[in-house]
Amino acid sequence: MLAAAITLESQEDLSHKLIIQTPATGVSLQGRIQIPGDKSISHRALMLGAIAQGETEIQGLLLGEDPRSTASCFQAMGAEISPLNTELVRVKGIGLGNLQEPVDVLNAGNSGTTLRLMLGLLASHPGRFFTVTGDNSLRSRPMSRVVKPLQQMGAQIWGRKDNSLAPLAVQGQILKPIHYHSPIASAQVKSCIMLAALFTEGKTTVTEPALSRDHSERMLRAFGADVSVDPETKSVTVTGQAQLYGQKVIVPGDISSAAFWLVAGAIVPGSELVVENVGVNPTRTGILEALEMMGADIQLENQREVAGEPVADLRVRYSRLRSCTIAGDIVPRMIDEIPILAVAAVFAEGTTVIRDAEELRVKESDRITVMAQQLNKLGAQVTELPDGMEITGGTPLRGTDVDSHTDHRIAMSLAIAALNASGVTTIHRAEAAAISYPNFTNTLKQILG
Ligand code: S3P
Repeated sequence: MLAAAITLESQEDLSHKLIIQTPATGVSLQGRIQIPGDKSISHRALMLGAIAQGETEIQGLLLGEDPRSTASCFQAMGAEISPLNTELVRVKGIGLGNLQEPVDVLNAGNSGTTLRLMLGLLASHPGRFFTVTGDNSLRSRPMSRVVKPLQQMGAQIWGRKDNSLAPLAVQGQILKPIHYHSPIASAQVKSCIMLAALFTEGKTTVTEPALSRDHSERMLRAFGADVSVDPETKSVTVTGQAQLYGQKVIVPGDISSAAFWLVAGAIVPGSELVVENVGVNPTRTGILEALEMMGADIQLENQREVAGEPVADLRVRYSRLRSCTIAGDIVPRMIDEIPILAVAAVFAEGTTVIRDAEELRVKESDRITVMAQQLNKLGAQVTELPDGMEITGGTPLRGTDVDSHTDHRIAMSLAIAALNASGVTTIHRAEAAAISYPNFTNTLKQILG
């Protein structure tokens, strides 16, 4: 069987075009894949390492642009962080409440997690002044979801559009504990408040409408914070002012990155892939349940626990997929995987309906509009809904020019769709993949053999 041709071309404006040409006979994907470290856990390991007392060692850190933004912000506030690599990163923590006032604007780049989690820490450092910003995308994303609860705690934060858009200025304060009922299931909101609560005397509680990822809860406990969780009421309580101590963190592979290969293996006839060392924390495995509903053949092998997080190798084999409905509590457990699930739905029999996912509109791009537009350019049948998409599968795709809108997950989802499209697909602004998956194109080449 002929392999697909994959070319990456740098453009004058420094953007990259990823060109995928499939042979007339089709391709099949084979091999074992190592994926990069989990983005959410990487951010948290760097942040907690920075504010803990003593040294934190991080193995398997994601070397994407987003964790690099976190590292540079905390370096600017006094944390010593060794050069970033996957083997071992050492963070010399400065102890609770000791972040220094940076002499320049803190830049979170493209990373919502960096900006939103960091705001909780900055707002609760009395007497210090901070300014934070990000790239074009981040400066248009809503920050009121964290600014409002922080203001209820007594924070002073200023920004455009009624203090809801970065750049933001923060004058650190002694905060007071609150019980916050979050209107959205968001780990970034929950974690921001939990981090502010670390420095705040008393008990701060966050209640969510549905459970979001719980990496902050797990890691804060491991570092010595007083965190209690009530799964019945979907609430988490942090009792403030316990010292954190540096730990050894082993970052598992990111299930959000694994998802691209799981869908690739499921939709490309004749494929069999094993994705190694994938974090399978139950607050993140919505994508596995969704693909199972669609009839995908995915097996969890070698299940184990690594540094407080469940991990497995995932074997996927091609199978015929059927449509499914995604709505309700599963949505926050697969929020970043919905673009790639949409690709699976394009190749499934029947009409897949995705609802309750309006959060997709305020991610790195409006992922509902952008995915619908780009998949339709390839010949798919996708209709936008206010809070999701309706996707009728089964129409063959034809290669054409598509655009990531500088959104990493859109770039990679379109590359997987291209594997099953006839002819040549050109993905513009494909460099966005480096936000969470710098090695994506090489792995794509590897499994095409
Ligand atoms: C993240 C939480 C999610 C997710 C993001 C990472 C985190 O965002 O989309 O990629 O690390 O806490 P929301 O909390 O906005 O849903």
